[in-house]
Order: sequence, then C-alpha cells, then structure tokens
Amino acid sequence: MLIAPSILAADFSKLGQEVVDVSQAGADWIHIDIMDGHYVPNISFGPDVMKSVRHCTSIPFDVHLMIEPYENYIISFVEAGADHITIHAEAGNHLHRGIQTIKNAGKKAGVSLNPATNESVLNYILNDIDIILVMTVNPGFGGQFFIHDQLEKIKNIKSIVGNKDIKIVVDGGINSNNIKEIAEAGADVAVAGSSIFKKTDYKKAIQELKNYDRKNEPT
Ligand code: DX5
Ligand code: ZN
Repeated sequence: MLIAPSILAADFSKLGQEVVDVSQAGADWIHIDIMDGHYVPNISFGPDVMKSVRHCTSIPFDVHLMIEPYENYIISFVEAGADHITIHAEAGNHLHRGIQTIKNAGKKAGVSLNPATNESVLNYILNDIDIILVMTVNPGFGGQFFIHDQLEKIKNIKSIVGNKDIKIVVDGGINSNNIKEIAEAGADVAVAGSSIFKKTDYKKAIQELKNYDRKNEPT
C-alpha cells in the first residue's frame, strides 16, 4: 500500500518544510487538494502555491482537482509541476475530453468518484485512465469520518479494473484503524491528511499506516 499524505492538513505557515518532512518520513506521493469554493464548500490554494513547494521533494505531486469546471485549470497545474491530475466525474460535461487533455500533456490521469456516484461511470474510460480516486468522505474538508458503504464500491472497482495498470486510490477519513479493510477491499494507495499531519512523528504515523497487517501481532 502506498501512502499519499494530504497537505490540506499540514501547517500552511511552513508548507515547504512540511513537504520536506513528510517526504523524508516515507511518503510515496504528495496529495494536493485544490478546492474552489464552488464545486466544494471550501477554498484551498492554487497552482502558484503548489509550484512554490515543488522543489521541496522529488516524489510525485498527486493533484486532486475539486473545481468546476476543471477544463481551464488542467494546464496551469501541469505547468506548476503536477505528475498526476485527478478530475471529478461529476464536475464537468466532458470527462473524456478532460482525461485526454491530461494525457496529451504527458501526465497521469485520474477520475474521482463522490460517495453517491456509481462506479459505472468508469465503464467507457477505463482504457484512458491511470488512477481511480474513491472518495470515502464528501469532498471539501479534511478530518471527516470514513463512509463505510464505500468499501463495497472499492471491491466493485477492483473487479472492474482486473489486471489493468490502474491505481485505486482511496481518500478521506483514513487512519490506522480502518486502513486494513480498505487495503483488503482492493485499494493500492491511501490518502491521509489528519492521521499524519495531526501527529508529531510523521515517520511513525506513516509506518503505522503501511504496517496495517502487523498491527495486532505480538511483539
Ligand atoms: C477531502 C480531501 C482529502 C482530505 C483528506 O476533500 O480530498 O484529501 O484532505 O483528509 P483526511 O485524511 O483528514 O480525511
Ligand atoms: Zn483529496
């Protein structure tokens, strides 16, 4: 299981250092939540802020666009240093076109599904995407509770994906108590904000998530 700390929960007054620290602590990707106050009821930051911390690590920048429409912003985030760009299936009229824009820019393309969105939306884009981001909270805020019903969706998506080279990423409310069932449902990557950045020891927090299957072993 790869771990992608979400910097939404970081201390923004020292964002660059937070990116350095979490990278050195064993993060696999940096998850970057972009919120527009329109598609979701919160505003985070834009491409210039992201660009200012790009030099702080060499691990992939995994950009989660919670903006509507997304079309006009994809290239700005490519130019700011995104490696992966995930757009919401619900946030535009031309999902296939949005995916092509990301692919044509040479980046990995992801599609995100809100908790109430059916996985059938993936049926005709499976050959075009690299990432499926399953929201296990309603997008907009960190620190919410994991929505359990989404485990069934993760399992369904796992069987739809089969052995295609697509990463199943799960985002929202993940901690060391629920990561095992998320992994067993078929997730490849866990996004975690509060359960890493609200701890003092990032390395320990990331290890706890990665070692979920050893949690109850005697020491
Ligand atoms: C929610 C964001 C998540 C969020 C996760 O809209 O997409 O990435 O930051 O934060 P936690 O892990 O605190 O739920
Ligand atoms: Zn996110």
